[in-house]
Amino acid sequence: MTVSAACKESEIDAPPRRPVRSFVLREGRLTTGQARAFSELWPRFGVDRRPEQPLDLPALFGNGNPCVLEIGFGNGESLAKMAQSQPGRNFLGLEVHRPGVGHLLLEIERRELDNLRVMRADALELLRDGLAPGSLAAVQLFFPDPWPKKRHHKRRIVQPAFLRLVARALASGGTFHAATDWEPYAEHMLATLEAADTLFRNAAGRGRFSPRPPERPQTKFERRGEGLGHRVHDLIYIRR
Ligand SMILES: C[S@@+](CC[C@H](N)C(=O)[O-])C[C@H]1O[C@@H](n2cnc3c(N)ncnc32)[C@H](O)[C@@H]1O
Repeated sequence: MTVSAACKESEIDAPPRRPVRSFVLREGRLTTGQARAFSELWPRFGVDRRPEQPLDLPALFGNGNPCVLEIGFGNGESLAKMAQSQPGRNFLGLEVHRPGVGHLLLEIERRELDNLRVMRADALELLRDGLAPGSLAAVQLFFPDPWPKKRHHKRRIVQPAFLRLVARALASGGTFHAATDWEPYAEHMLATLEAADTLFRNAAGRGRFSPRPPERPQTKFERRGEGLGHRVHDLIYIRR
């Protein structure tokens, strides 16, 4: 057997490499209300992912309004507020953390929202094969996990490959809006987005952060960051 054939065989035998994820799944306990939300509200507002079959967004919402995807909504309070204040847009919230999903389902019921749907899925997987190209008007990513240790930087969700997937899902003229209270991550996001200038144009001008738009409600993590004295940076980029 040649050396290269031996290498190929050992590659086949090797277990598949675990993907580097931007989250660590902690199965937090559901409150009684959240458990009820999963049984009663999920069938109406929850979206089950069917791998390799793009979502039919107009069918999901019952109209063809522009659709905004929020990645990692946490407890979903700011997303619910946004959906309530913008009834002419549809919102699809993505989160992997079950109690957060349950919490948002309860907010949808409390606020009687019909323009918000919830998915429990990894954003990378959904962006890869779950959305038709050009099907979104906006993608928002508020206070993603900063992964401050150097050895964890590879877990940060904002990377060139992620931005290519976001660009693919966005319609031309659509926006990518990110915010963070972690200064080194803000600088990393800015550099990574500026380097993707064939795909995106900075709404604030090259190399600049954007002022916080009034339609973005404060999030739970933002409040926490501000309590620790962190400065918040918004980044808004337009899909070319
Ligand atoms: C630091 S929290 C911020 C939550 C919320 N946006 C806020 O500002 O309060 C980041 C959230 O992103 C979620 N998350 C991380 N990676 C994700 C991914 N690949 N797909 C979906 N959600 C993700 C985590 O579960 C976590 O709840």
